[in-house]
Amino acid sequence: MTTAPLTDLYRLEDTIDTYALGHYARVVAAGDRRANKTVAFKVMRSEHVTHDGDMKWEFKAFYNEAALLQRLAASPSLVRMHDCGYIESSTELPVNGQIASFGTDVDEFTDAAARFAAQGWRPYLALDILPRHNNLLYVMKPNQPGTRWRLPTEEGIALAMQFAQFLQVAHQNGVVYLDHKLEHVYWDGARLHVIDLNSSRALNGAAADAQQFKADIHNFCVGILYPVFTGISAITGGLRATPSSMAEVEARYKDILVLDFGVEPSLSPAVQQMIQRGAAMEYDTADDLIAELNKTASLHGWDTPHGENTPACRAARDQVRQGLKKLRQGQESIREARDILRDALIIDDITPDIEDELRRVLLAVNAMLNARVIP
Ligand SMILES: Nc1ncnc2c1ncn2[C@@H]1O[C@H](COP(=O)(O)OP(=O)(O)O)[C@@H](O)[C@H]1O
Ligand SMILES: [Mg+2]
Repeated sequence: MTTAPLTDLYRLEDTIDTYALGHYARVVAAGDRRANKTVAFKVMRSEHVTHDGDMKWEFKAFYNEAALLQRLAASPSLVRMHDCGYIESSTELPVNGQIASFGTDVDEFTDAAARFAAQGWRPYLALDILPRHNNLLYVMKPNQPGTRWRLPTEEGIALAMQFAQFLQVAHQNGVVYLDHKLEHVYWDGARLHVIDLNSSRALNGAAADAQQFKADIHNFCVGILYPVFTGISAITGGLRATPSSMAEVEARYKDILVLDFGVEPSLSPAVQQMIQRGAAMEYDTADDLIAELNKTASLHGWDTPHGENTPACRAARDQVRQGLKKLRQGQESIREARDILRDALIIDDITPDIEDELRRVLLAVNAMLNARVIP
């Protein structure tokens, strides 16, 4: 353990959670001075601090999360943890005071919990920082009524495969993820990253675990696959952040056994069926889901263990992937252009002539972005 002034180890920057606040934590970008890189500094909310030495559930969730992050580190889709510990600072966003850093020694971090709780310190985790523009809630949330985006089927299938493999690793290690929602999913078009194991749980190896694995797959299909392929939430219709405590996480998707794909009739029937079977609790294990995904994927030109594709389908899929890549690059350029034009608009003392023209172009650029193909 290293004890030091907080600002000796971390240079705290801006909050990065404002569009999707969590129940347990505040998250800020921070320069890690020892590793010389930027990390996501996830610290327990100050309202969960107790002054009677009691450790609230929210406090324990941090060492639970640290242990699970380590246990599942073999999954390439899980965010990496670099450091964990406690800070003294009691303001909502940490500024100063002391820090006790345990690095990746989760056992020591856990053993020290009661001692630091008694002093009113707060737990933190330092994680790989993931770009906001890859957060699925951030990119898919409509900014005006009537808009809705969904992932292209090729990308949605790739995401589903990687997520199912992550669940496979989790379940093999006796862990259920549970908190399935878009704000916990980062996708760059090719690679998945999952965050937040605060609500996840290590099971005790009993026969009843099977039911929980099954429920975890159900939650994934309802809570993530459905909005990814339709652009709407199975519960609320629209998409918005849903900060939740333990009990809420478990109850959230429980009663949703039938999904309505009416908003997205263009979605391949095989994909609809693959997700609906998850909602109907027809998959016992992640392997079952992967088997069904393979069948679905082969209809979209993938070579899967389910079967080889025809050269025509394989070639078409290849073109799809190239086209999607170009679309992503194009959309990225349009966003960059919009930001440059926006910045020009706030320059002092420009003529009304320039200002009017900038507004006209920006309006058209925003319309283009609202009609984008990929979220
Ligand atoms: N590693 C990270 N990189 C970038 N942003 C993050 C990271 N971890 C969390 N966030 C942001 O902070 C929000 C809250 O974090 P989360 O881990 O979900 O906290 P809680 O346990 O309180 O739900 C997330 O929805 C996300 O927007
Ligand atoms: Mg969360």
